[in-house]
Amino acid sequence: MEKQLKTIGVLTSGGDAPGMNAAIRAVVRTAIARGLKVKGIKKGYNGLLNEEIIDMQPKDVSDIIQRGGTILGTARCLEFKTPEGQQKGAEICRKHGIDGLVVIGGDGSYRGAGKLSALGINTVGVPGTIDLDIACTDYTIGFDTAINTAMEAIDKVRDTSTSHERCSIIEVMGRNAGYIALWCGIANGAEDILLPEKYDYNEQAIINNVIDNRKKGKTHHIIVNAEGIGHSTSMARRIEAATGIETRATILGYMQRGGNPTCKDRYYASIMGAYAVDILLQGKTNRVVGYRGGEFVDFDIEEALNMQKGIDEYQYEVAKLLSI
Ligand code: ADP
Ligand code: F6P
Repeated sequence: MEKQLKTIGVLTSGGDAPGMNAAIRAVVRTAIARGLKVKGIKKGYNGLLNEEIIDMQPKDVSDIIQRGGTILGTARCLEFKTPEGQQKGAEICRKHGIDGLVVIGGDGSYRGAGKLSALGINTVGVPGTIDLDIACTDYTIGFDTAINTAMEAIDKVRDTSTSHERCSIIEVMGRNAGYIALWCGIANGAEDILLPEKYDYNEQAIINNVIDNRKKGKTHHIIVNAEGIGHSTSMARRIEAATGIETRATILGYMQRGGNPTCKDRYYASIMGAYAVDILLQGKTNRVVGYRGGEFVDFDIEEALNMQKGIDEYQYEVAKLLSI
């Protein structure tokens, strides 16, 4: 039988991503507009276990849609991975009258959400991660801002690389996924793009490429390296030693996770946040929101976690073609 929801909780979990605030705002305002109460849970599952829970009104989410980070804070919580932690989390939800929960985060956060669903708390996940590594969705909140931030940074590195006739390795985030590297590699016109999914790290081939490009008269050589491959600093030293061409490594790091979200991130986050509330109101639980084939959709959490996605072969081939 459908449970009549009265109060929805919202939390952000895992790595923060630009656009999470827009999603929180959408959850709060949609829920209140539909006649529900909303509780904000601070610092992810950590805040849940520590009962850092606040009432939220529409005005509490004013002036946040344009801000990076998450006003609720986020954290990683080991205790919540244990059955005892999950049981405690479900009891705290019940104590605070939270009968529906929106979890904004990545795959790990959904695993936690699935556990709460099994314990009777209706739960829906919203994909918030700069990595784009969630298989059930073509889009994750934060990816667009991150790639634009990284793209602008790489343009700047390229200016100085050209002036000094250097080779530059720029390492971008993405954990084990190469989506940020692929998008920036193409958008920044990189000479080499290294992706963990393609196991394409062949240092001798890169060295040959750097030497060939210099012979062709290119004054720069940009290598976009994914975090999943890493080792940019030592790679730079070896490339310099082998080619005689000055080589520098730049690891972009956390700047990719911050900053004002792009229009696209604000838009998707707003729709996904509202959609999460609306499917909770339909009585759904253990679901993840996604965007696929031009539509907002939702999947069972286990089904979503078992899906696979990878780098598109054609896009990868084009990236290589364009780098000559
Ligand atoms: P993301 O959500 O970005 O993938 P993590 O993998 O770090 O980030 O997961 C965020 C949090 O979700 C973890 O710190 C933990 O509290 C919770 N979590 C992750 N995996 C599980 C699991 N198997 N069971 C319960 N909770 C989990
Ligand atoms: O998932 C987002 C991300 O920034 C990854 O790209 C990176 O591997 C990881 O988080 C870093 O996590 P932390 O904030 O724990 O250093």
